[in-house]
Amino acid sequence: MRLTNRKILLGVCGCIAAYKSAYLVRLLRQEGAEVRVMMTRSAGEFVAPLTFETLTDHPVYSEMFPKDRYFGTHHIDLAEWSDLIVVAPASGNMIGKIASGIADDFVSTVVMASQSPVMISPSMNTHMYENPIMQANLRKLKDLGYRFVEPTVGELACKTYGVGRLPDPQDIVTVITSHFGGQSDLSGLKVLISAGPTVEYLDPVRYISNPSSGKMGYALAERARARGAEVTLVSGPVALEAPAGITRIDVESGSQMRQALREHFDRCDMLLMAAAVGDYGPETVSEHKIKKSAQPIQLKLVPKADILLELSRDKSAQVMVGFALETEDVVANASEKLNRKKLDMIVVNNPKITGAAFKSDTNQVTIIEADGNSYELPMMSKLELADKILDSALKISIKSKHNG
Ligand code: CTP
Repeated sequence: MRLTNRKILLGVCGCIAAYKSAYLVRLLRQEGAEVRVMMTRSAGEFVAPLTFETLTDHPVYSEMFPKDRYFGTHHIDLAEWSDLIVVAPASGNMIGKIASGIADDFVSTVVMASQSPVMISPSMNTHMYENPIMQANLRKLKDLGYRFVEPTVGELACKTYGVGRLPDPQDIVTVITSHFGGQSDLSGLKVLISAGPTVEYLDPVRYISNPSSGKMGYALAERARARGAEVTLVSGPVALEAPAGITRIDVESGSQMRQALREHFDRCDMLLMAAAVGDYGPETVSEHKIKKSAQPIQLKLVPKADILLELSRDKSAQVMVGFALETEDVVANASEKLNRKKLDMIVVNNPKITGAAFKSDTNQVTIIEADGNSYELPMMSKLELADKILDSALKISIKSKHNG
């Protein structure tokens, strides 16, 4: 139990994701935490307070001036009681209030009164989340030291696709656990990670690319950082927020990604090459928009540099981890890549398996190590999988330092 004796005050806001907070309470209690819940009035429209009272064995707090239950300054008592306040889901309204110093309901008042750290897990429609006022509020709160569990990308309750989903409660627990010390087994290590797709332009407005969401690389960055590593993330264009405390370098084309990785490779201890780098790009890029005509057009695509193969030639002590997508002869094909690219380890998945596709929050992989060890992992969230990959990479790094 990783949260024994930790006192966690959960603030639930009015958002359809409030139903996930009930499961979050169960998981936190399973980890040994003491949990109290406070709700906004609109949260009560989505989930009944009784649900949380039953799960916590305690009253739920939502009224500043309850008629029958309590006398005294219970908002201050609760603020002082908690080791950590977690607002999940945090609505746009609540984030706006906290950022503006407004305390006009129980949750915002406790947050203002609290001396303990506050962790915010935003959840809302993509357009609300991307609203510049919201973004400015988030920046302000991050600058003030508020912690965040970033929303994930996927289908939202309003049927739109985009950023704004409350992460899986298990993943919120992982972040909370890290906050309380968690592991720091990667401290002192420099971890270089690539993520997302690359984009090769045909003309100023068209490109060829692939549907990589970047979720695996970002999960690796988040977990490596939480475990104490110094993380540099080279990212193709994705709709994800960078985890706090890492250096993110944004790139578009394969050659930009190659350049950024080359600049940081010498100094890194581990390279985790999760990006879906395009193998081909157009031979020539048209300076102007290609005009429509009735005739077919021919595109000549030429091979682009294999970044991992190139870097493996300059390898000194770095642990190099590749990723492969294979739809047939999965292990044999991945092992061939591992040998050809002189990797220490390769993580392979078959995107045809349900739950292991490009944009999914979960993945089911096999890890193959250079010494021949290979193990198939069950389906799990990308955040959990990130920990497994880092465990294996760290084991290889320790072994090679020992032998070298
Ligand atoms: N990779 C790379 N540069 C490329 C292509 C791939 O660095 N131009 C990296 C990927 O980031 C991944 C690994 O190589 O970590 C394997 O990628 P994959 O596309 O599966 O392998 P390929 O060698 O491109 O083989 P194929 O597409 O034929 O399966």
